[in-house]
Amino acid sequence: MRILVLGNGGREHALVWKLRQSPRVSKMYCAPGNGGIVDEAECLPVDLKSLDSILTLGQQVRPDLTVVGPELPLMLGVVDEFTRRGWPVFGPTKAAAQLESSKSFAKEFLQRHRIPTAAYAICDSVDEVREALSHFHLPVVVKADGLAAGKGVVIAASKEEAASVAAEMFSGKMVGDAGARVVLEECLKGDELSFLVLSDGERVAPLVAAQDHKRVGAGDTGPNTGGMGAYSTADIVDDTMRDWLVHHIAKPVVEGMKAEGAEYKGILYCGLMMTARGPMVLEFNCRFGDPETQPILMRLESDLVDALEASIEGRVSEGDFKWSTDASVCVVMASGGYPGTFEMGKKISGLDEAAAVDGVKVFHAGTSKRDGEFYTAGGRVLGVSARATELETALQRVYQACGKIGFDGAHYRRDIAGRAMKR
Ligand SMILES: Nc1ncnc2c1ncn2[C@@H]1O[C@H](COP(=O)(O)OP(=O)(O)O)[C@@H](O)[C@H]1O
Ligand SMILES: [Mg+2]
Repeated sequence: MRILVLGNGGREHALVWKLRQSPRVSKMYCAPGNGGIVDEAECLPVDLKSLDSILTLGQQVRPDLTVVGPELPLMLGVVDEFTRRGWPVFGPTKAAAQLESSKSFAKEFLQRHRIPTAAYAICDSVDEVREALSHFHLPVVVKADGLAAGKGVVIAASKEEAASVAAEMFSGKMVGDAGARVVLEECLKGDELSFLVLSDGERVAPLVAAQDHKRVGAGDTGPNTGGMGAYSTADIVDDTMRDWLVHHIAKPVVEGMKAEGAEYKGILYCGLMMTARGPMVLEFNCRFGDPETQPILMRLESDLVDALEASIEGRVSEGDFKWSTDASVCVVMASGGYPGTFEMGKKISGLDEAAAVDGVKVFHAGTSKRDGEFYTAGGRVLGVSARATELETALQRVYQACGKIGFDGAHYRRDIAGRAMKR
């Protein structure tokens, strides 16, 4: 089989790495890929913001399977267009991807289907926001409706702050068109959990859960990022909780989407808050998460190609995945200044020494390769990952590997999975 992965981040490197392990794969392509993916797949140029560019690439390569990494191509309707042409593609249609691309759509959907989520109000003007704020306690969460690459959510401490953030969103200056509509939400307390399932439009198969670390600084301080690290262990959710999440969240979502005529195929990523009132949905993503995919796929023992094909062909069953009971962890090494402004083009050293540490795999995100050397080419540069029987050992390995890697301005969190270690 010839497989094409669309995207250029750490998630896509992990997908390429895992898909290639399938004996069914004869050739891997990735578009546009990155400095590390070049060594594991043939990288081809593409503009992921342009449906035409992706369709031209599809016509050139004609892969037996296309896997879409990021959300934007899904929102543009890549799956609809590939499917119409008879090209096998993994992921949800544009209509189904609204669960991620519109937070107001997701909230109303959750309410219609009585799936637990925070109380909310959908507002189309600052006046509506001011009016709705009287129904919320503080702090209150202000969210841009559309895709905002992690920059569209603010937890406001006062009503004045909430109103002024909303005004910024409506003005288009903060997140462009994504802020044309605003969702206010009750602020929930608890641990966050990323719970992903594979869906074929009717049935779901859960993946192992993971925990992301969104804030840039140790102890969950500083601004939000795309994700600074993630881990997964056998006991991050127990079997009872996993079954509860399947039956009270994932399945009702998939059944609800089918009933509403927008069958949901692909990965359904449920972003959850584990509150004292039980698990509640914060948001959905309609694809694999980054960096959660790195530790999740490090624990996968069965064939990923088979699983993704089962989603496309409508034959998913709960036992589609075989998982290791090992723990896995991914630590993101970022450019100096990230998530603010940062410089690129810094030479990266120590990658071979890091990769030689037992159980370690270094996934590339923002890197480029020139004359056999690697350089930084983005905010999140590397996802240094490790697997071991015990979480403690996986952490020792991952931080040993991070210590061997150097580039000007490099920073990373030293407390990934810290909360799990305390428990
Ligand atoms: N209702 C809420 N209560 C508390 N925290 C929230 C709530 N909604 C979002 N958050 C916080 O904001 C982060 C980003 O929100 P999310 O809805 O996942 O948007 P996105 O990932 O699109 O930026 C979450 O990971 C969580 O930490
Ligand atoms: Mg999120």
